[in-house]
Amino acid sequence: MRSTKHNQMQVGIEALGMYVPRYYLPLRDLAAARGVAPGKFLQGLGQEEMGVPPPDEDVVTMAANAAREALAVVDTDSIDTLMFATESGIDQSKAAAIYVHHLLQLPKYCKSFEIKQACCGSTAALQMALAIVAQRPERKVLIVASDVARYGFNTPGEPTQGAGAVAMVISATPRILALEPEWGAYTEDVMDFWRPNYLDEAVVDGKYSIKVYLKALAESWTQYVAESGRTLAQHDRCCYHLPFTRMAHKAHQHLSKLAGGDPADVTLLADSLQYNRRIGNSYTASLYVGLLSLLETAATDLAGQRLGLFSYGSGCMAAFFSGVVMKGYRKHLQPDRASVDLDTRHRLTVELYEAFYRHELPRDGRRYRTPVNETGNFRLSGVEGHKRLYESCAPVARLVPETPRAPVRRVGGGYCIA
Ligand code: CAA
Repeated sequence: MRSTKHNQMQVGIEALGMYVPRYYLPLRDLAAARGVAPGKFLQGLGQEEMGVPPPDEDVVTMAANAAREALAVVDTDSIDTLMFATESGIDQSKAAAIYVHHLLQLPKYCKSFEIKQACCGSTAALQMALAIVAQRPERKVLIVASDVARYGFNTPGEPTQGAGAVAMVISATPRILALEPEWGAYTEDVMDFWRPNYLDEAVVDGKYSIKVYLKALAESWTQYVAESGRTLAQHDRCCYHLPFTRMAHKAHQHLSKLAGGDPADVTLLADSLQYNRRIGNSYTASLYVGLLSLLETAATDLAGQRLGLFSYGSGCMAAFFSGVVMKGYRKHLQPDRASVDLDTRHRLTVELYEAFYRHELPRDGRRYRTPVNETGNFRLSGVEGHKRLYESCAPVARLVPETPRAPVRRVGGGYCIA
């Protein structure tokens, strides 16, 4: 049983929630449509399915749904701050957090804002949340991490697209994971993946991004070791940022070579990869989807075990940190999530995936209502006067998706750098 070094007080994750779109595309179908051997996507990248949001779903609705789950057992009056981490922002000025604050009817004194540093924004939020809770232990912080990963048709990044959201309540009563105070961080100005304001898809130098990810892992690990004095063997499991699940294998092998572990042994990663393999990249949420996957699918009780966590945000900033799993954590999670949330999703054809992907909201301020597809408890009902309109709704099963009627956008050949 590991013990944390937070002196008297523990801070960490009290509650977790997750939401994924109700539609998916099997990557075997995408491979056939793109004339690629399926083994490249399924084994080479380690991805099986890709979550695809319908036109009436965006980062706000996904985040609100995830937060609804996380808050089910938390007194919302205790939420002091709502931080929304995303790199699929919907507005240059107004924070997506404000919409979530409204949809969930959080207290008016709850501060709400958005945070950005690619996929690492959620982890930056987490570190800030720990400081807030350490200063005022009676307050709690809600973090939502929500993203839609878009690279474009026929690009190398296309099979690594995905979408999803995770919500975390950070408090001084961590019922799931107590976070430890030592953090190793790393920042370097690199152009491995970015999205200028005028593009809907990311620009990515794929092979280079993998190199930078691995360098940032080594650097932040070294810094973490300097602070904590721990060895890799003192971490029972590791969770990595997951742009695609094979990246975790590459990361763990790289770290093991550096830190004296067995680079050939990636067996203990398997539980943390199950959800991402079926959801795809969810950028800011991705590491925490992996954490949930580990906690909810591991056959053994992980209570007392130390987890090493690696967060990577292109551009780049990275962090290596750790936490100890709390006794009784399973009571606060959803062990049947795969059968409830993933197995019940609707399978799209490649044609429908492309129609969903091409959909865009009018940009001229006119009134427009989005077609009704299956969502969670919130949906983007339309736009009017350049304002996005959200509504609460009861989830409705819809087997035949409504294809978008809005003007469709030209999608070029993507912006990947070969
Ligand atoms: N059967 C089995 N495996 C096969 C295969 C087959 N038929 N054909 C190819 N493969 C293997 C390849 O050998 C390769 O494996 P290794 O990496 O072990 O060598 C793997 O499949 C992928 O093949 P390629 O390297 O040829 O693939 P690619 O160049 O077309 O694209 C990619 C790979 C660069 C990752 C691309 O998907 C991409 O650009 N993705 C987006 C960027 C990304 O995810 N970067 C990760 C780090 S950055 C980050 O983490 C931030 C973030 O969230 C974006």
